[in-house]
Amino acid sequence: MKKLSFIIILIVLLESCGNDVPKPVPVYEPTPVTLEMPEVFKDRILPPIIPVDNPLTEEGIALGKKLFYDPILSGDGSQACAGCHNQANAFAENRRFSIGIDRKEGTRNSMPLFNLAYNYKEKFFWDGRAFDVENQAEGPVENPIEMHNTWDKAVESLSKSDVYPDLYKKAFGTEKITKELTVKAIAQFERTMVSANSKFDRYLIGKEDLTFDERMGYQIFLSEDKGDCFHCHGSIDNPLWTDNSFHNNGMDSVFTDIGLEEVTGNPADRGKFKTPSLRNLKFSAPYMHDGRFGTLDEVIEHYSEGLVFSPSIDPLMKSAYKGGVHLSKTEKRQLKAFLLSLSDDSFITNAKYSR
Ligand code: HEC
Ligand code: HEC
Repeated sequence: MKKLSFIIILIVLLESCGNDVPKPVPVYEPTPVTLEMPEVFKDRILPPIIPVDNPLTEEGIALGKKLFYDPILSGDGSQACAGCHNQANAFAENRRFSIGIDRKEGTRNSMPLFNLAYNYKEKFFWDGRAFDVENQAEGPVENPIEMHNTWDKAVESLSKSDVYPDLYKKAFGTEKITKELTVKAIAQFERTMVSANSKFDRYLIGKEDLTFDERMGYQIFLSEDKGDCFHCHGSIDNPLWTDNSFHNNGMDSVFTDIGLEEVTGNPADRGKFKTPSLRNLKFSAPYMHDGRFGTLDEVIEHYSEGLVFSPSIDPLMKSAYKGGVHLSKTEKRQLKAFLLSLSDDSFITNAKYSR
């Protein structure tokens, strides 16, 4: 590293000899970053996944953040990743379907982005079609109803810019911009987006107490014969509040969106979608892959009274035969209080992730 920067400085010096105004050349001396595990994750879950060929660096993360917020990646230069992933909504979107650059509406609700480095299943999107964070980031740029660009054109725009070649040089040691380096930078930024400071997190590390309703709500969430939610949505032993796996949670009997089956071709996977985390629900409405529920009350009503049967329904939806878990009014209120205690206000205001 030292040697490399020495050579670069030498080149700068040599080059500047023939020039009146020497252009400052960026130095490749990336600063490594370690993703510290938040206290509430330690001893509960595995360390984050950082691929060996894309270690975190300050320069890489800064470049990734700039790209995430820059509409330069889209076909007409109008839409950034952040256009459909707002920090105020835990990096999801407060509308049912996202609208791409051609004003075309998609069919799925934008997903919140946090704790992606802790997704050990390494399956992304509602249907799991992307296999890592880098691979995921390749998708939206060319997706016709999202950024509707080609990677060749996106790379060309970045290469022509006044600032990007220098930033790539600082992050990756080369000014030659490629798709691979672009998605690496975005993935680095995304891996730093960690949410672990909800009221419930602070309760788990002994820093804050829960209300009576929040405690009761957690018991309902945990109990086999009441809410029965923990099989898929985690517990104090898995404070990601998702198993990052795929299930059919009894929402439809006929499917317009077949979910995981689209990827595996297996009819047994019909209508299975990735379990979303229950963190940050306070900010990320509407809910479900198609954003069909606008409020948490509607979601709770679904599990309580609205379960419908289909051949691929998850065996863990044990009360589907009787149409739901049938909670009382009080139980619903308590369950909701618990769910809201999983929201992390500091995440949506953390300047580290802001534009
Ligand atoms: C037009 C809106 C839109 C744009 C622009 C967009 N996204 Fe998304 N994003 C979505 C939607 C909708 C989904 C869910 C799609 C699906 O499951 O098929 C999604 C899913 C994701 C996921 C998967 C999360 C998970 O937990 O599996 C990640 C990560 C993501 N987007 C990152 C990005 C990045 C990075 C960019 C920019 C390069 C971007 N998005 C641009 C709407 C958008
Ligand atoms: C069999 C696994 C399973 C069980 C049990 C389960 N869920 Fe879910 N949950 C899912 C899946 C899968 C989705 C996404 C479904 C979709 O988008 O079509 C989901 C979605 C949700 C959402 C929407 C979150 C978002 O960001 O869109 C909430 C809230 C939720 N579940 C709460 C609960 C509660 C409360 C219980 C218990 C009463 C429960 N779940 C039981 C698998 C499960």
